[in-house]
Amino acid sequence: MSSFMNLITDTVSAAFAACGYEETLGRVTVSNRPDLCEYQCNGAMAGAKQYHKAPFVIAEEVVAKLQDNALFEEIAVVKPGFINIKVSGAALAAHLEQMGADAQYGASKPEQSRRIVIDYGGPNVAKPLHVGHLRSAIIGESIKRICRFMGDEVVGDVHLGDWGLQMGLIIEEVKERKPELPYFDESYTGDYPKEAPFTISELEEIYPCASGKSKVDEAFAAKAHDATVKLQQGDRGYTALWNHIMNVSVTDLKKNYDNLNVHFDLWKKESDAQPYIPDMIEQMKADGFAHISNGALVVDVAEEEDTREVPPCILLKSDGASIYATTDLATIVERKKLFDPDLILYVVDKRQEMHFLQVFRTARKTGIVSEKNELQFLGFGTMNGRDGKPFKTREGGVMRLEKLIADITEAVYEKMAENRTMEEEEMRQTAKIIGLAALKYGDLSNQATKDYVFDLDRFISFEGNTGPYILYTIVRIKSILKKYGDSGNRVEDAKMQAPQNPEEKDLMLSLSRFGEMMTQAYSELAPHKICAYIYELANAFNRFYHGTRILAEEDAGKQAGYIALISLTRKVLECCIDLLGFTAPERM
Ligand code: ARG
Repeated sequence: MSSFMNLITDTVSAAFAACGYEETLGRVTVSNRPDLCEYQCNGAMAGAKQYHKAPFVIAEEVVAKLQDNALFEEIAVVKPGFINIKVSGAALAAHLEQMGADAQYGASKPEQSRRIVIDYGGPNVAKPLHVGHLRSAIIGESIKRICRFMGDEVVGDVHLGDWGLQMGLIIEEVKERKPELPYFDESYTGDYPKEAPFTISELEEIYPCASGKSKVDEAFAAKAHDATVKLQQGDRGYTALWNHIMNVSVTDLKKNYDNLNVHFDLWKKESDAQPYIPDMIEQMKADGFAHISNGALVVDVAEEEDTREVPPCILLKSDGASIYATTDLATIVERKKLFDPDLILYVVDKRQEMHFLQVFRTARKTGIVSEKNELQFLGFGTMNGRDGKPFKTREGGVMRLEKLIADITEAVYEKMAENRTMEEEEMRQTAKIIGLAALKYGDLSNQATKDYVFDLDRFISFEGNTGPYILYTIVRIKSILKKYGDSGNRVEDAKMQAPQNPEEKDLMLSLSRFGEMMTQAYSELAPHKICAYIYELANAFNRFYHGTRILAEEDAGKQAGYIALISLTRKVLECCIDLLGFTAPERM
C-alpha cells in the first residue's frame, strides 16, 4: 500500500503533468512550517528556470487543477511560488482505516528483497559478556528485525570468538589446577568424561585468573600459547576440554541473550571457519595476491586515493599462525558458500574499522566475493559513563552485562515501589520489562556511530525521550481500550472518523508517516529513526489524550473514531518497539 505522502505526491505530480510540466516536480514533503500547513510542494520554484516562467504562475496553474480534489482541505499558493497543503480529515481517516488493515501498516517493502547475513553479538567464549558486547547485540537485533519487516531474508549469526589465546589460557590454567584430568594425559585413549570439570562461575573465575597470570608469568604465557597451538592442531584431549568450555559457556550466553530479547539464528564460531583457511590461502598465493613481507604472508590493500595508511592485510604471521583477519576472510568464504548473501553486515565496535577495511579489500581483490556480495561495516560508538570515559563499574572494572541489567531492573523496581500499585511478583516482572526498554531505548535512540553516555536516572525516567515513557503511553492506551471493551463495545468494530480537533489531526498525521519513516530507517539501517518517530507519535497521542474526553464522549460515532485512532496508535507503537527489540507490560 502506498504511503499517505506518496498519495499526495502522486496527486500533485499528476497535476503538474496535466499542466504540461515534468511530473517529478510534484514531490511533496512534510511542511517545515507546521503553523501554516501540513505538507508543501516546492516544485514550481524548481521548475521556474526550466520553463522560463515565474514560479508563482506555475504554482497557480497546478493549484487550480487541485482546488476541488477531495484529498485536500486547503491547497494554496504562497509567494514566491510555494504550494501549501492541508489535507482533508476524511481522506486522512480513510487512509488510516486502510493502514490499520494492512499487515505492514502502510510501510511498503522494496521490490527486490535481499538475502542478508548480520554478524552481531560477537562475544568471546569463556569471557563474561560485558557492556562492549551490549551495543552490538542491541543494535544488531534491531537491524535484523527492521530488515525482516521490510521483506529481506535475514540470518543473524553470533560469530562466537572461540579460537584465540583465551582458550589456551583456560586450558593451561585448568591443567595447573587439576593435572590429573585425562585431557592432559597423552597416553589416554578412553572416552572423556561427559561432565565438564568446571561450572560457569568457575570458568568465569578461571579466565581472568589465567589472563592476569600470563601478564606477569612469562613461562605460563608461553605454555598458554603452546596450548592454543596444540588445540588448533586438533589435539584430542584439548579438543574434548574445549568442547566442555564451549558447552558451559554457550549455555550461559544463550541465557544472557534471551534476557536481552536477542535471538540468533546461527551460533557459528570462529573455529567453524578454520577448515576453509588452507585452500583459501593456497588460492591467494597461486593468484599472486598473497606474498611474504617481513616473514608474514600478506595481501596489499593500500589504494592510491587513501588519505591514511592502510597496512597490508596479514594472513599468516611469521610463525605460520593465522589471525583475526584470516578467520574473518575464511568466514566470508563460508558464508558465500552457504548463503551467497547480497549483503554481509557487521555490527561491531567502530574501533575495528581498519580491520574490516583490510578484510573487505582483501575479499574484493582476491575474488572471494563477487560484485553482488556487498560487505558493510556498521561501526558503533562507545557507551561512556557520566565522566565521558568508557563505562566502568564503581570499582573501575569491566561492568558485566548481567550486573548492568540487574542494576537497571532494581532501579526501576525501587521507583515503582514508591507508589506500589501491584503485587510483588508482577512488580518484579514489570520492572524487568521496563528496565530492558530503558536500556535498549537509551542506546538505540542515539545514532549508532556516536558515543553516548549511559545515564541510568535519565534512561529510567517515565518522562522525556525514554523507553519507559513510550511504554507508559502504550499502557495508557491499553487501559482506555480495555475500559471501552468492558462497557460492552468491540474495539475492532470502531471506525476511523475525520478528526474533531487539531490535536487529533496531528496524531493522525503522525501515524500516517509510519511508512516513510520505515523506508528511511531501513535504507539507512537506523533504529534511531524509529525512536525519534515513536517519541513524536507518543507526544502527539498524549497531547490528544489530554485535550479530549475519550471515554466520557456521548456521541458513539465520535467515540468510536477516537477508539479506532488510539487502537491504531497502539498497534504502530507496539510494532515499533518490537522492531527495537522490547515489549510493553500490561500495567505499570
Ligand atoms: N569477538 C570479537 C570481539 O570481541 C568481535 C567479533 C566481530 N565479528 C567479526 N566477524 N569479526 O572483539
